[in-house]
Amino acid sequence: MAGRLAGKVAIITGTGSGMGRSAALMFAREGAKVVGCDINPAAGGTADDVRATGGEMVSLQPVDLSGAEGAERLVAFALEHYGRIDVVYNNAAMAYFAFVAEMDYATFNRTQIEEVDIIFHLCRAAWPHLVAAGGGSIINTASTAAKKGSRGQGMLAHSAAKGAVTAMTRQYACEGGQYGIRANTISPGMIRSAQTEPLMKQQGWTERAVSRQLLQRIGEPEEVAATALFLASDESSFITGTDIAVDGGTMAN
Ligand SMILES: NC(=O)c1ccc[n+]([C@@H]2O[C@H](COP(=O)([O-])OP(=O)(O)OC[C@H]3O[C@@H](n4cnc5c(N)ncnc54)[C@H](O)[C@@H]3O)[C@@H](O)[C@H]2O)c1
Repeated sequence: MAGRLAGKVAIITGTGSGMGRSAALMFAREGAKVVGCDINPAAGGTADDVRATGGEMVSLQPVDLSGAEGAERLVAFALEHYGRIDVVYNNAAMAYFAFVAEMDYATFNRTQIEEVDIIFHLCRAAWPHLVAAGGGSIINTASTAAKKGSRGQGMLAHSAAKGAVTAMTRQYACEGGQYGIRANTISPGMIRSAQTEPLMKQQGWTERAVSRQLLQRIGEPEEVAATALFLASDESSFITGTDIAVDGGTMAN
């Protein structure tokens, strides 16, 4: 298949919904062999949809990527199907919110496991195979929360986690350069997804979120997936160790 990702094997995590599902559909349209996965056992529908439109995708679910065993199982699954790995798009994560006075250690720690450890384990399992392939692209999902606090939302654990994701990614880039491995983060702003839908139903929440955006609207999962596609492709061959905000201008405001 021709396309911007022709011949590349791309692991995308959390393909059951939101940005991960959008990326799976988009990467496959551009010729990638997609390896999807999700903790949700019902997430296999994305692979069915990709194949129905002539794309190539296999998917592993349920798999919990917040531990080493799940990450290793996913890498083995990718190698078993396609024999190599070129792209690791760490999209899956789960955030837990509470204001400072209510944030207990269990919730704080759980957020680090499901937002930071989740990236460590998959990068650790995939790294030797990226080296063996002569390089590749790691795309980690951070957030505007890595650089910006919030008076209206209890982001203590989430901000700490996404800040760690940007810091870790710089280090993957530093150590990966010699092997041709590029590593970058994407920092989404407010994007329509399963995680933000309950918030959008709260009185006045969307209006407040939109008022901080230069483009005056909520972002769509496809707009993040398009950035991941660019970072996965050779079009970004001289880009590593950086962060791209996909936030409607929130960080500039
Ligand atoms: N939606 C936003 O506004 C927003 C903003 C900034 C950053 N992000 C980040 O974008 C990424 C995608 O979020 P989304 O909004 O599309 O969420 P989502 O809930 O729609 O999708 C995340 C997917 O990952 C899966 N997943 C979660 N934990 C997992 C685990 N331990 N193992 C395997 N699969 C797991 C979920 O089942 C789900 O299908 C996350 O890293 C999130 O922190 C989202």
